[in-house]
Amino acid sequence: MKQPPTIPNTPPLLRNLRMFQFLWFPLPYIEDRTKRYGDICQTKRQNSPPSVTICNPQAIKEIFTASPENFDVGVQNKGLNFLVGDNSLLLLDGKEHQRQRRLLMPSFMGECLDDYSHQIVSITEKVTDRWQLGKPFRVRPFMQEITLRVILRVVFGLDEGERYDGLRKLLSSLLDGISSPLTSPLMFFRWLQKDWGPLSPWGRFLRLREQVKQLLYDEIRERRDLIASGKASSRKDILSLLISAKDERGEGMTDEELHDELITLLFAGHDTTASALVWALYWIHNIPEVSDKLRFELDNLGADADLKEITKLPYLDAVISETLRIYPIALGTFSRILKSPMSIGGYDFEPGTSLMVSIYALHHREDLYPEPKQFRPERFLQRQYTSYEYIPFGGGSRRCLGAALAKLEMKLVIANILSRFQLALTSDRPIMPVRRGLTMAPPDSLKMVLKGNGE
Ligand code: HEM
Repeated sequence: MKQPPTIPNTPPLLRNLRMFQFLWFPLPYIEDRTKRYGDICQTKRQNSPPSVTICNPQAIKEIFTASPENFDVGVQNKGLNFLVGDNSLLLLDGKEHQRQRRLLMPSFMGECLDDYSHQIVSITEKVTDRWQLGKPFRVRPFMQEITLRVILRVVFGLDEGERYDGLRKLLSSLLDGISSPLTSPLMFFRWLQKDWGPLSPWGRFLRLREQVKQLLYDEIRERRDLIASGKASSRKDILSLLISAKDERGEGMTDEELHDELITLLFAGHDTTASALVWALYWIHNIPEVSDKLRFELDNLGADADLKEITKLPYLDAVISETLRIYPIALGTFSRILKSPMSIGGYDFEPGTSLMVSIYALHHREDLYPEPKQFRPERFLQRQYTSYEYIPFGGGSRRCLGAALAKLEMKLVIANILSRFQLALTSDRPIMPVRRGLTMAPPDSLKMVLKGNGE
């Protein structure tokens, strides 16, 4: 059996230090690991199966094109049940996972996306109209409000009203409470998940989660009644679709199953895109040449260009692609656990092996992306990357369900903001990604300011 390089086991203290480094300074950790052990390497612990990390395009192709039946979901996904429940798409595998994806997928494709375009623009205008000339503002809360309103619309068909206002505030607080660089370990270590009362981080999380649950159950019950009385027959949103869906035995989803799927989409669907939007605004305003080229492309479109034309602009597309390359929001894909023996990248792996594709390490390969630390959208105009060389949304049977929606949102929000405002960063200090729960994001403190014409 041919095996990849193995990272040597270290004493527990050193191992904990490495874990600490991975949690708070993951980028140097990943760069160092790739340099030392190559693009396929593994760790082995006593009494547990190997854990393999991969950033080799050929091996990635073999994983992404293998039958989904070859893999189980990893412990990482299972550990998310505290947030998304046991029936979430993230925790399903095999046939049930594929069935649920087939049900949801049409809402994130084709005509449905066209329907969302106008809503994305009007939500962007509504939220950014609150910016005041000369008054610095933190960028993240605004981008988060946009993406949260968009996903509420996609999931429920509405984003206004008392219940939605409540959901928006609660969801933001819920996620912020466990995603700051300080509180993120709550997501990784079960022993930190202790309820020491409403003021403790976990106690606060549990209480907020209960309030969100109540609002979602209220909405589910109300929508069921509407559908039963034939008053929601024209609704195309995801909740109506899921309530009407039946499995092969003719049975519909329970309230609990519906709740878990809704909360999964609400979480997966807004925080990631908000981080990506903040990065895009940062890069565009950090490099004058990028902002000039983008404005030139947008200006050339003319005032009454339709939204489809905006989504096809090559330089805008390249800026969005480079934003998701240089600091991918998810550093790696979800782990896949092998169910039967498999050869990958010329190595042989046993059942039980955990496979994780390192998105960051792949996106920083010198042979694919010369000078990988430079933000250079042109690379996407000069070369077409395959779906095993460029993977901000993962791939294969677990590829991000909302990839097309996220890219659409990024293009329309950025184009809208750039054509309406002259913004500037309040500091020219370079910024680095910080941990935000399972993902990496720009620091929360990133500020911009609205400038008058000619400033
Ligand atoms: C820039 C924004 C986003 C990024 C970078 C991103 C990235 C990812 C990545 C890397 C994965 C794991 C894929 C794998 O393991 O191969 C994933 C999964 C997923 N994403 Fe996204 N995502 C984004 C936005 C969204 C949006 C808008 C939605 C909308 C609902 C969404 C829903 C999901 C779901 C449901 C999964 C799990 C898919 C499954 O297990 O079958 N994501 N995403």
